[in-house]
Amino acid sequence: MTRRPLVAGNWKMNGLRASLAEIKAMGAAYDEALRARAELIVCPPATLIAPAAEAASRGGLGLGGQNCHAAENGAHTGDISAEMLKDAGASYVIVGHSERRADHGETDAIVQAKAAAALRAGLTPIICVGETRAEREAGDALGVVGEQIEGSLPADAPEQIVVAYEPVWAIGTGLTPTLADVAQMHAFARERIEARLGRGKSATVRILYGGSVKPANARELMGVANVDGALVGGASLTAKDFMAIAAAYR
Ligand code: 13P
Repeated sequence: MTRRPLVAGNWKMNGLRASLAEIKAMGAAYDEALRARAELIVCPPATLIAPAAEAASRGGLGLGGQNCHAAENGAHTGDISAEMLKDAGASYVIVGHSERRADHGETDAIVQAKAAAALRAGLTPIICVGETRAEREAGDALGVVGEQIEGSLPADAPEQIVVAYEPVWAIGTGLTPTLADVAQMHAFARERIEARLGRGKSATVRILYGGSVKPANARELMGVANVDGALVGGASLTAKDFMAIAAAYR
């Protein structure tokens, strides 16, 4: 089973127009040799998607949003629909990031509705799951992630969807799970995706690892079985670090 690796940058609430230079540099460094081995996307703040689409136009670098509303349009002040992200030039959208689950009370049901909205709009959802430190210490990591997969993936989702495993305690902390823990969780996640979507699809779904991915640890993390790429936060803000991480696939 060949899954095309995906390296995705999540800029979170960072980036002004001056940062478009980084996206331009990423597009320029995303050469044919790397394109043959891995897909590369950046998810800047929504304000930068349209200009980023222009800046990245020739290189094959893809773009994504960081969140969307479940509805197509309507009276939802301040929200952005999946259709709007698509219209601005995105082909992906992150849904259910732990920061949104925590800051905005997003439940699995809400995340599932957002993932369905992304698919309706023709976007590929990157559906995030991951346990907190307390949950891992209590021995509940697998149970929590299993439940999030069950509740957050639309039952009829196609095999193009992406799942990102991001242990909350590894985000922005410099901490990462052991390679054995990553292997165990990704194998378990694939089983749970299979239970949710069925075997044919599960083998094709890409499962990304996210949480303190850096140039120094990318190669070993990306080398773990069932790790089909990375969701990178802080280290995706500069072309230099992001491309050094993507180089794990060269
Ligand atoms: P860091 O790479 O900064 O730890 O963030 C990970 C993340 O949350 C990506 O979505």
